[in-house]
Amino acid sequence: MIPMPSGLTLILSHRGRETRFTCEVRGALTEIQPIQWVNGKLRLLDQTRLPQEQVTLDIDHYPEAVAAIRDMRVRGAPAIGVTAGYAMALAARDIHAASRPQFLSQLRQAGEVIAAARPTAVNLAWAVRRMLQVAQLALEGEDIYARLLGEAQRIHQEDIAINRRMGAAGQDLIPDGGGVLTHCNTGALATAGYGTALGVIRASWEAGHRFRVFNTETRPWLQGARLTSWEFQQLGIPATLLADSAAGMLMRQGQISCVITGADRIAANGDTANKIGTYALAVLAKENGLPFYIAAPTSTIDLSLASGDAIQIEQRPEQEMTHFQGKPVAPAGVHAINPAFDVTPHRYISGIVTEAGVARPPYLESLKLAVEDRRG
Ligand code: MRU
Repeated sequence: MIPMPSGLTLILSHRGRETRFTCEVRGALTEIQPIQWVNGKLRLLDQTRLPQEQVTLDIDHYPEAVAAIRDMRVRGAPAIGVTAGYAMALAARDIHAASRPQFLSQLRQAGEVIAAARPTAVNLAWAVRRMLQVAQLALEGEDIYARLLGEAQRIHQEDIAINRRMGAAGQDLIPDGGGVLTHCNTGALATAGYGTALGVIRASWEAGHRFRVFNTETRPWLQGARLTSWEFQQLGIPATLLADSAAGMLMRQGQISCVITGADRIAANGDTANKIGTYALAVLAKENGLPFYIAAPTSTIDLSLASGDAIQIEQRPEQEMTHFQGKPVAPAGVHAINPAFDVTPHRYISGIVTEAGVARPPYLESLKLAVEDRRG
C-alpha cells in the first residue's frame, strides 16, 4: 500500500497507458513502498511525479527497469540496487537459451546494461554481481528465474532490515534540542523502505528525541523539496525546507548542530560520493565546528577503490539545469555542467553509520571491519 492522503489520485501506468483511481484514506497512513513485486511485475512509485501525483509504473521487461533508473523514476542508491535485482530476474525470465553457458552469457550482458544505467551508486553493480553469483550456483534443471526472483526479494527485504539497524545505530548522534540538517532524499523512497540518513533521523525521533529538522531543496532535481519534505510530512516529523545555499548562514547562526547525509559510494579510505552539494555542506560543517555524518549500508562501501578520486561521477544532461519542468530558465544556447554527485574527502566526515554500527576514523580499518561484519 502507498500512503494516500485523501483527495489525491493514484495512477497506475503500464506501457504508457494510465488508469486513475481517486482515493480516500481513513486512519493511519501505511509505510511508503517505492518498490513492489506484484503479479509477476515490478511496480515502481514514479518519483518524478511526486509529490503532486502518485503514479506507479508496472514493468515486465528489464530494459524498462533500466530506463526507469536512468530517468530518475526510481532513484537513491539502495533503491536502484533493489531495482537492479528485480531487473536481473526479469532479464532471466526473457532469456530463451539453448544451453546453460549461453543463458549465463546473455544474463551477464543484461547485467552490464543494468549496472551502467547510473555509474556512481555502487549498489547497482553490487546487486547485479550478487544475482549473477546466484545464477551461476543454480543446479542443472533448476528454475533459475524462480531462484533469481527469490534472491531479488531477499535483497529487497534485507535492505529494509538493514535501514532499521542503521537507524538504531545512529539515533543518539542527534543532540536533543539541537538542529539536524540533511541533503537530497535518503528516506523510504531512496531505499526499499525506512531510509538511511532520513532513517537515522526517523529512528531518533521515534525514540523520543526532539530536535529541529532542516532539509535542503537539492538543486536541480529538488529531491529535498519534493521528496524529503513529503516523507517528513507523511511521518509527522516537522521539517523546514531551505535553499541549498542557505545552509552556511543557518550553521553560523547556531541553528544546526549536526549534518547527516546518505552516500552513493564510499571508498576504502572513507571518501564519500553523494548528491552534488554534499562536499560544500561538509566543508561548511567543519568551518562551523559541527559533526558531519554519513549513513549508508555496507553495500555502498567499495573497498576496491583506494580513494574517492577513482569514483566515476555521473554527468547528467545540461537541460536539467537550463530548464525546469520542460520550460527554459536560462537563455537559449547557454551551456551548463550538471554533475549528479561530488566526493567529500574522509577528513570532513566525523562518522559513517552502517548496519554494523558507527564507523569512526581511521576508516581504512573501521570500514573493512564493517564489511567483514556483513560477510559474517
Ligand atoms: O540522484 P539521486 O536522487 O539518485 O541521488 C540520491 C542521493 O544522492 C542519496 O543521498 C544517496 O543515494 C543515498 S540514498 C539513501
